[in-house]
Amino acid sequence: MNPQKKLEDEINFKELLKNPIRLFGWIFPLFLILILVLGIFFVKHLTDISFNVQNAGIQDSTLMKKEVELKKGGISAPVDFKLVKAPTQSFIDKGKDIFDTNCKSCHGENGMGDGPAGIALAKKPRNFHSSEGWTNGRNIDQMFKTLQEGITKNGMAAYEYIPASDRFAIISFIRTLTQFPQVTDEQLKSLDATYKLSSVTVHPNTIPVKLAENKLLEEKTITGNLEKKFIHKVNGDTNNEMAVFLKNNVIDYKKVFNSYVIANGKQNPDKFIADVLTNPINAGFKPAVALLSKEEWKKLYDYLKSSIM
Ligand code: HEC
Repeated sequence: MNPQKKLEDEINFKELLKNPIRLFGWIFPLFLILILVLGIFFVKHLTDISFNVQNAGIQDSTLMKKEVELKKGGISAPVDFKLVKAPTQSFIDKGKDIFDTNCKSCHGENGMGDGPAGIALAKKPRNFHSSEGWTNGRNIDQMFKTLQEGITKNGMAAYEYIPASDRFAIISFIRTLTQFPQVTDEQLKSLDATYKLSSVTVHPNTIPVKLAENKLLEEKTITGNLEKKFIHKVNGDTNNEMAVFLKNNVIDYKKVFNSYVIANGKQNPDKFIADVLTNPINAGFKPAVALLSKEEWKKLYDYLKSSIM
């Protein structure tokens, strides 16, 4: 043994075994480095080391359903069953146009059920060329029912918003793709009885959900701003005799504003006043307003009208 304990220039492994505690001196820094390296690797790859196994490449095609269209409603003419029974080329062409915009994405250009939007669907879009395995069926009344009600559980939406006559045009186009069962008078009669197709139908206006949401929000903000303006104005009009008069008769300006808007006070002064008198407290006024004269009410109303834009 070296009594001066000078640093060894070579590892003496035999000595190391005799005094195993010294081993720790070597292993400790090794562990430290290993943990450090693993730690850096982990932090650098945090985004990859995750349990999210969703395949981002495939889009859920049920979410590709089109938004409700912005459409002016109207009255659609009765279905011309003669045309449905013996479709003209222009009727079929019209059907193809509507098919291309609404159906091609799933059913494919030629109706083989191979459209890109259908790929990720659990139930494949119908291949119109195959006569087997139809859910509702291939007869004209069955196909119309499919378009009217959809087979939503299988990813086939309802298209009742497409006018009945246009739906027959689509079906007429699909029927040119391959052999389909004959159209019979009974089928058309039963369709007419079920859906009242030979009478005039009225379509309501439709507006995309998103747009409707924005409109509502906008309206709310506008009314909210008007309400604030109104309260601000009335509170600021300290020298206005009518403002003071109003103040003396009001409990809650917000309620006053709301009842004015709800009664459409601008156009219906009488209705607004009648509403207030039925239940003054609900309308934000003190019950004593019931005792105001016609003159006073007129002045009060004129002031409100000039303060609420
Ligand atoms: C989002 C994809 C998608 C779109 C768009 C779509 N379909 Fe379908 N369609 C399907 C699926 C999926 C089925 C299969 C449903 C089943 O077998 O029950 C189907 C089935 C059908 C059937 C057969 C129903 C039966 O009895 O088996 C008809 C007819 C049909 N679609 C017509 C249309 C028409 C016409 C349009 C356009 C106006 C259209 N589809 C748009 C997905 C779609």
